[in-house]
Amino acid sequence: MEKGINQRKTEHIRLCLTDNVEGVGKSTGLEGISFLHNALPEINFDDIDLTARFLDKPLNAPFLVSSMTGGSEMAAEINQNLGAAAEEKGWAVALGSTRALLESDAHKKSFLIRRQAPHVPIIANLGAVQLNYGYGAEEAQQIVDKTEADSLVLHLNSLQEAVQDGGDLNFENLLPKIEKIAESLDVPVGVKEVGFGIDGKVAQQLYNAGISYIDVAGAGGTSWSQVEKLRSRDPLKKAAAEAFNNWGLPTKDCLVSVRSRLPNVPLVASGGMKSGVDAAKAVTIGADIIGFARQLLQAATESDEAVAQVMEQIELEMKMAMFGIGVKNLQELKNTDRVNVMGRSLMEEMSDD
Ligand SMILES: Cc1cc2nc3c(=O)[nH]c(=O)nc-3n(C[C@H](O)[C@H](O)[C@H](O)COP(=O)(O)O)c2cc1C
Repeated sequence: MEKGINQRKTEHIRLCLTDNVEGVGKSTGLEGISFLHNALPEINFDDIDLTARFLDKPLNAPFLVSSMTGGSEMAAEINQNLGAAAEEKGWAVALGSTRALLESDAHKKSFLIRRQAPHVPIIANLGAVQLNYGYGAEEAQQIVDKTEADSLVLHLNSLQEAVQDGGDLNFENLLPKIEKIAESLDVPVGVKEVGFGIDGKVAQQLYNAGISYIDVAGAGGTSWSQVEKLRSRDPLKKAAAEAFNNWGLPTKDCLVSVRSRLPNVPLVASGGMKSGVDAAKAVTIGADIIGFARQLLQAATESDEAVAQVMEQIELEMKMAMFGIGVKNLQELKNTDRVNVMGRSLMEEMSDD
């Protein structure tokens, strides 16, 4: 089993570094949001403040390294680089699926980044579908304890599993099991997708089940039907995956839909986030925290300094966008009227029952 997971994790990283793994003709929808430049911003750039809070800890900027990896040799270096850079920049950092940690000690080190990231929030990760394959609250708590995590995020990845050779396909009756995990763990439990998006209706079900935050992980960035298509040795699945090139709810639509139903849920924008301008746009439609996955991957294979440099650029871009419209902090950005959002009212209407 360990060999299987190790190999799969390594293939995921390699394909995400070298191949086209974005959906075809799919975007986040954020290009439908435009800022209205303010020629007289009346603020000092140096006063722009990106500080935020997440999982009861302060962040220097409202950013999260989204779940990527763990459970292989290559993953150990990547996670340590991500952890050290997150600590330096004051970002939250998520681990990839921590299932391998329960199954073997072989690559334990790849999940243990508390030493690199002593102060920032660390989020452990597990596929929600595993709750139908022998894992429950006890194992989930073990994962949190071993990784010294501040939270566990469960991922929903039905279509990835459907394309994956030997994927786990029984997604029946997961909601009550998710509820049990949220109830039992001694840390907050969130739920994310992996790039096909969570809309307002599903977010509402999860919130009613006791979930502490939603990470929409919408479409427009890495497509996991594409990644698994490239890995698959099953010609039928490979061909069928082709029809899912542009599947998924764009990140922007997810954010509008979730925020219009759940005005107070802590909301993470992720899926195709590339720049600080994307991040600033996401905040105007209700995101609290912005998550980046593949945008950080290449640098994470190099060094913690390389990751910190990409992070620095994202922060600078966000500050420049805020300067461009004349807002000093995230609260002002959230409430700005210097933004045009195409299709917002349509998505809000679709979220009403
Ligand atoms: C190499 C790689 C591995 C990933 N592994 C996981 C994982 O183990 N668990 C998870 O919840 N998401 C995983 N993801 C999905 C990301 O967290 C994210 O939801 C998705 O890639 C969309 O974001 P992006 O467009 O910024 O890449 C992975 C992404 C990448 C690039």
